[in-house]
Amino acid sequence: MSYIESALQERRSFPPAAEFQGHANVSGLDAYRALCAQAESNHEAFWADLARRHIDWHTAFTHILDESDAPFYRWFDDGQLNVSYNCIDRHLPVRADQAALIFEADDGGGYQLSYRQLHEQVGALSNALKMHGIAPGDRVVIYMPMSPQAVIAMQACARIGAIHSVVFGGFSAKSLAERIADTQAKLVITADGGFRGGKTVPLKAVVDEALQQPGTDAVGKVIVYRRASNEIAWHAERDIWWHDCVAGMSTVCEPVWMNAEDPLFILYTSGSTGKPKGVQHSSAGYLLGAILSMLWVFDARPDSDVYWCTADVGWITGHTYVAYGPLALGMTQVIFEGVPTYPDAGRFWRMIQQYRVTTFYTAPTAIRSLIKLGGDLPEQYDLSSLRLLGTVGEPINPQAWMWFYQTVGGSRCPIADTWWQTETGSHMIAPLPGAVAAKPGSCTLPLPGIMTDIVDELGGKLTGDQGGYLIIKRPFPSLLRTLWNDPERFKQVYFPAELGGKTYLTGDSAHRDEDGYYWIMGRIDDVLNVSGHRLGTMEIESALAAHPQVAEAAVVGKPHDIKGEAIVAFVVLKIPCPEGEAASEIAADLRNWIAKQIGAIAKPDEIRFGDNLPKTRSGKIMRRLLRSLARGAEIDQDISTLENPAILQQLNATS
Ligand code: WT7
Repeated sequence: MSYIESALQERRSFPPAAEFQGHANVSGLDAYRALCAQAESNHEAFWADLARRHIDWHTAFTHILDESDAPFYRWFDDGQLNVSYNCIDRHLPVRADQAALIFEADDGGGYQLSYRQLHEQVGALSNALKMHGIAPGDRVVIYMPMSPQAVIAMQACARIGAIHSVVFGGFSAKSLAERIADTQAKLVITADGGFRGGKTVPLKAVVDEALQQPGTDAVGKVIVYRRASNEIAWHAERDIWWHDCVAGMSTVCEPVWMNAEDPLFILYTSGSTGKPKGVQHSSAGYLLGAILSMLWVFDARPDSDVYWCTADVGWITGHTYVAYGPLALGMTQVIFEGVPTYPDAGRFWRMIQQYRVTTFYTAPTAIRSLIKLGGDLPEQYDLSSLRLLGTVGEPINPQAWMWFYQTVGGSRCPIADTWWQTETGSHMIAPLPGAVAAKPGSCTLPLPGIMTDIVDELGGKLTGDQGGYLIIKRPFPSLLRTLWNDPERFKQVYFPAELGGKTYLTGDSAHRDEDGYYWIMGRIDDVLNVSGHRLGTMEIESALAAHPQVAEAAVVGKPHDIKGEAIVAFVVLKIPCPEGEAASEIAADLRNWIAKQIGAIAKPDEIRFGDNLPKTRSGKIMRRLLRSLARGAEIDQDISTLENPAILQQLNATS
């Protein structure tokens, strides 16, 4: 069988500091191992016990896991609860006056909402939604700027049992319309506009355009939050101002008790091919994953932490680690409307200083761009409140890891490199920071109860450090339940027959080192086959990024007569984009560098320089576009989700 060769050598290890370990929710490797052993010995009892302890149930469950219709697994399915009750009401006896949300606007202004105020505002909007005919099970699409109101809207849906589908505020009218049509939403919640980096982002206008598309007729009402006071068109029979619809509403809304398996939300995730997949999550299982990972991976301490996750609510990270997880624990969290580089690249560090942030969770792409724009800026701020850092979304290259660790975390804060997916709902592989030593670039070990493994394409076991398919062998509560309207695709994509139909296929490749640590190598679809060697793109990218002159790199394959595939690297340098001879010289230098770092087999056949890489708004490199560029093919893909379209021309021209 072909396995994926691993060439990365990273041996540094950072064990938890004694001080951190001493106070941690899970303290020491033995405590972590004990949890894992409990899960191994009685998987169902392990989860049932946690579900009873950490969720407030309206009706206790008696069933734990139902596998009779696998892979459509059901958890705790005769239990009843309300997710919003668990995120807000249950904290009121002790936390009514504690800040739940600290909002900082793009222009630096802002305000706080206590748990009491959050309860009132969610209650009022819930009553308004009911008045406009929204019933349990109805779909509501949310197209909002990053704001407390986005969280309030999600919580209000959860409170009345409506299924929300948040669409990121950067998506085009076409993408929005597709999601509205697929969910058959009855109502849309939006804002007139939002602010990002000093610019107004029109949102209502995009909704207007989307609602002219076929398939969106189920939408009867559009609730509009006034944020930017930009000029908008108004459809009197359909549009309602948020402030008008909550005015005079009671702020008390009894939660609707839902079954554990009732869908909480649908979130669309685009694969590399085909139409976006409507990932459908449950209520109780999802909430449990959010709560446990907050406790285990973020070592949550609701009484003293100030927590900040920079993700937008349009992504799964903004669902689990902004809208639900932190609130379920009664945390105080920062919500930021703007971008990391406005008004300058010190924005994040200034905010950490100002709010005394303890826990900071962001993406490697943001870290790399901040290194590029001002690697020594953090030193100008007091970041001593920080005690824990986290990353998500893609592998973090060891250079960026070290910078984050030393320059931001003062060599004091553990870093949780969290591997998970929209589909898994919560962290799957990540260090428990008071227990598991970190290694730069590795997401380390699976969470207790998460039975990961690495196999070949037929499910055969791989040994040693052979790379292969990353799978999860047993169901766990926060896993997606199905794809909205498409159960067949759900089975095909995630539970393929080749693996027996009951094993969750993550779509990522990974290998393990001698300590059992996981190293993510990239998406399976991105694996290169060069002269019969299967190479993960991530390793070559990481090696390129280790070169002192390189800020960022992306690697793709293009067909090659002899080698099968040739390697094409797109590189962003720390210096201005070189041309002509200068470019050839640096390219030659980089090829030699790769030969030394990994081996001649991984030397890029072609290197193109640009000021930037094409990315989605969530910061993911759009490899399918780069593959088209590398092949010299026409770009026929939908590029509406591209953050920086101009970059395509540049990368094309520098070939
Ligand atoms: C894919 C999931 C999970 C929330 C944000 C993205 C990649 C994610 C890591 C990590 C290496 C990672 C994987 C995964 N990924 N986190 N820590 N190390 N790769 O959610 O859009 O569903 O993407 O992101 O390839 O499958 P998503």
